Amino acid sequence: MKKLVLLASLSFLGLTAAHAANIPEGMGVLPTQVPVPADNPMSTEKVELGKKLYFEPALSKSGQFSCNSCHNLGTWGVDNQKFSIGHQWNRGGRNAPTVLNSAFWSKQFWDGRAPLLEDQAKGPPLNPVEMAADSEEAVVTRLKDAGYTPLFNEVFGKHSLNYDNMAKAIAAFERTLITPHAPFDKFVEGQGSISKAAKRGMFKVAEIGCTSCHSGVLFTNNDFVEFAYGKDEGLKSVTGKAEDDHVFRVQSWRNVAMTAPYFHDGSAATLEEAVDTMAKVQLDTKLSKREIADIVAFLETLTGEAPQVTFPLLPRPTGQALDFKD
Ligand code: HEC
Ligand code: HEC
Repeated sequence: MKKLVLLASLSFLGLTAAHAANIPEGMGVLPTQVPVPADNPMSTEKVELGKKLYFEPALSKSGQFSCNSCHNLGTWGVDNQKFSIGHQWNRGGRNAPTVLNSAFWSKQFWDGRAPLLEDQAKGPPLNPVEMAADSEEAVVTRLKDAGYTPLFNEVFGKHSLNYDNMAKAIAAFERTLITPHAPFDKFVEGQGSISKAAKRGMFKVAEIGCTSCHSGVLFTNNDFVEFAYGKDEGLKSVTGKAEDDHVFRVQSWRNVAMTAPYFHDGSAATLEEAVDTMAKVQLDTKLSKREIADIVAFLETLTGEAPQVTFPLLPRPTGQALDFKD
């Protein structure tokens, strides 16, 4: 056993040394461990429950919308819409970001108004243009009627079916949705290659300073910066402070090739357009067509392996309809 570990770490060091020279500083392999808050430890049962809740349309007033409606796990955790469609065919005012790798972000939402996945998951069921449930109690009653009580009790103990635990279970499930083994990661590990164009793009983003914000192995510094573009006021809409005007979280480049359209307002239909705009707005740089193509080729190497998620069987009462009147 000891020998194996030694060998593994030696070859790891060897690889790092061999490849360190070939990638810009700071770039690297996506971690396989996500941060987990102390008050919501992971367990197989909790993740299973969270998965059911993630796919559960009974969280919505109409009985039609689940988390998966807008963050479809069959399409990289997004709906590919400019603005998502929710209750009574309403559209919200922001593009739906992917849930994949969201466990790695410092704060949730474009404006970071939810610190943790647990806080985030309490929002959508009650959001009038998303799932539009009347109250936390209404959601809990639905879940009871559907037959969730024993599942919650198994995970959280007796009398535990409540709104907070619903959010905890969903967050635990989301923490399993990470996307390792992108072509770029394999390249860094010495187990694969990326195209010449992608390599040129990789050095270009470092040279011109994209990676001052899109830095590290997540390709985001997880910070909030000004993006002087569009009407949305970003963080200012949460804090009311002038200095937060048009401040948004730096989005990760992980899987970005699969999550069009781009930006908080979904206004860039293509990755080329998004790269072109970023260079102009954030770096005051006009990129050539070829430079844009190279950068896009690099971004495409950051598409990892999506988690294989089987659609869960949801609890339902036998021989009786749920109350989906609205
Ligand atoms: C009607 C569409 C819709 C539904 C349903 C929905 N979401 Fe979202 N979700 C969005 C939009 C739009 C945003 C971005 C909002 C913003 O930043 O202001 C978002 C943001 C998020 C984020 C933040 C990701 C990031 O990168 O910051 C997470 C996580 C998330 N949703 C999870 C969920 C979960 C869990 C559910 C179910 C309980 C859910 N969503 C239901 C549309 C939806
Ligand atoms: C000053 C920091 C900063 C720099 C420099 C920067 N970005 Fe960004 N980037 C951001 C922020 C903030 C966002 C989120 C924008 C929003 O709210 O719509 C973003 C979003 C993006 C997106 C869209 C992500 C999505 O999911 O919609 C792409 C693609 C992108 N950047 C690429 C680049 C490229 C390529 C460069 C270099 C040419 C670059 N960025 C330079 C801060 C930066």
